Amino acid sequence: MGVRITGWGTAVPDRIVTNDELSLTLDTSDQWITERTGIRERRIGGSAMTLGTLAGERALADAGLSTSDIDFLVLATTTPDRIAPATAPMIANAMGLTCPAMDVNAACAGFMYALRTAQGLLETGNKKILVIGAEHLSRWVDWTDRNMAVLLADGAGAAVLEYDPDGTDLLSFSLGADGSAADLLTCEHGGFFEMDGKEVFRRAVRVVVSSAEEALKEAGITADDLALVIPHQANLRIIQAATQRLGIEMSRAVVVLDRYGNTSSASIPLAFADARDNGRVKAGDYALLTGFGAGMTWASAVVKWSR
Ligand code: COA
Repeated sequence: MGVRITGWGTAVPDRIVTNDELSLTLDTSDQWITERTGIRERRIGGSAMTLGTLAGERALADAGLSTSDIDFLVLATTTPDRIAPATAPMIANAMGLTCPAMDVNAACAGFMYALRTAQGLLETGNKKILVIGAEHLSRWVDWTDRNMAVLLADGAGAAVLEYDPDGTDLLSFSLGADGSAADLLTCEHGGFFEMDGKEVFRRAVRVVVSSAEEALKEAGITADDLALVIPHQANLRIIQAATQRLGIEMSRAVVVLDRYGNTSSASIPLAFADARDNGRVKAGDYALLTGFGAGMTWASAVVKWSR
């Protein structure tokens, strides 16, 4: 049973907010944010629906498909526009899709969980699935709180997955969740994101490394075989620490957080698109996709690009 990833699309708001701009209203600096996180600027605006719709339309065009081809829409989002309805049906309506549509919330591991969900949906008879990660995190940021304001941002990314009986791009998955760590990173109803940054940092490195090792083992390859690592974009130091522990040089990791900040469910497809735009995605290459987030949740997958 195989899954081909046949199209990708992204969307980010036009509005760029630099570290210097944040420093005008917060007790922070470009130097602190850059050194501690790697983030230089981020995009702010739109909504989960508007950004997700645009990314979804672009992924569909990239795959050369029309709306009637899609059997299911899975939207990964931590920041749905409303508690009810889910945002996925609104995106489906805006795109002109008539298929089932649902949200998946696994925080910053959301896109990976959505890929896994789509894989299962393809195994039960669906032929073509649109997976979108879309976030409007800025809506849930207290812009007077420098701890979170420097990190979170808005954006969306999407992928089209197609059933192929003859082969697969998705070689392995390792997913996990540990609800005992739920209070480390939260956003209450009507509240804002809050985080124990140091503890999230420590656990993030640990779960990325362990899930990556499991996914590599299940795929029957080693870290040396990887051409690319496409990690969730939370903090450059987390990416550096995890790749170092896995024995992977940073030159093989894709980093876009300098331009987009932490866009949660959108960060992995945004990173993929950047890698492809820069000619780093080649047929036959192995890549590790890995994410972690509030929950805590985590997920790694090994992919072998067929196109
Ligand atoms: N600007 C300037 N100074 C800041 C600051 C900011 N935005 N935020 C914190 N500081 C200060 C602290 O008050 C502290 O000052 P002190 O030494 O006088 O007490 C100092 O900088 C160091 O703070 P600390 O919290 O130890 O920094 P850190 O190196 O742990 O970095 C994070 C903070 C949040 C960037 C880091 O912990 C992190 O990235 N954690 C994981 C975040 C993450 O991945 N979240 C998303 C999961 S999906």
